Amino acid sequence: MATKIAIASDHAGVDYKKRLIEHLTGRGYECVNLGTDTEDSVDYPVYAKRVCGKIKNGECEFGILICGTGIGMSIAANRHIGIRAALCGDTDSAVLTRQHNNANVLCLGARILPFEKAAEITDAFLDTAFLGGRHQRRIDMLDHMENLPF
Ligand code: RB5
Repeated sequence: MATKIAIASDHAGVDYKKRLIEHLTGRGYECVNLGTDTEDSVDYPVYAKRVCGKIKNGECEFGILICGTGIGMSIAANRHIGIRAALCGDTDSAVLTRQHNNANVLCLGARILPFEKAAEITDAFLDTAFLGGRHQRRIDMLDHMENLPF
């Protein structure tokens, strides 16, 4: 069965998202498009929440969120327990965030990165496995930050 990816953008990433869906479908992934699909101005937290919901309920393995910078989407996504969203601007970061952080959401900045670069980053992210071991202990802490001292 194809790996399912929940994908959404705000108005700044509509065309980019469309191209990325085509790219990923061509690579055998199943994309669940959660909007937005027009250039009318929308609020990125709404779309971040949609994608996080699909991961939290187990319907999708990964999420991709696109806004102008990718920053708003990453801030919004990381407010959800169980979500580890990484804003990546290079392939090394994409590989390392999978290996070390077991990131399950990739955030991209449509106004920052050329599309071809974003496609490369996405491929690197999806092609890389989590390393586990000591990294698992750190990830476990993320969902229980209240147990850590200030
Ligand atoms: C929308 O203009 C822009 O603020 C948004 O796409 C994003 O860059 C926010 O972080």
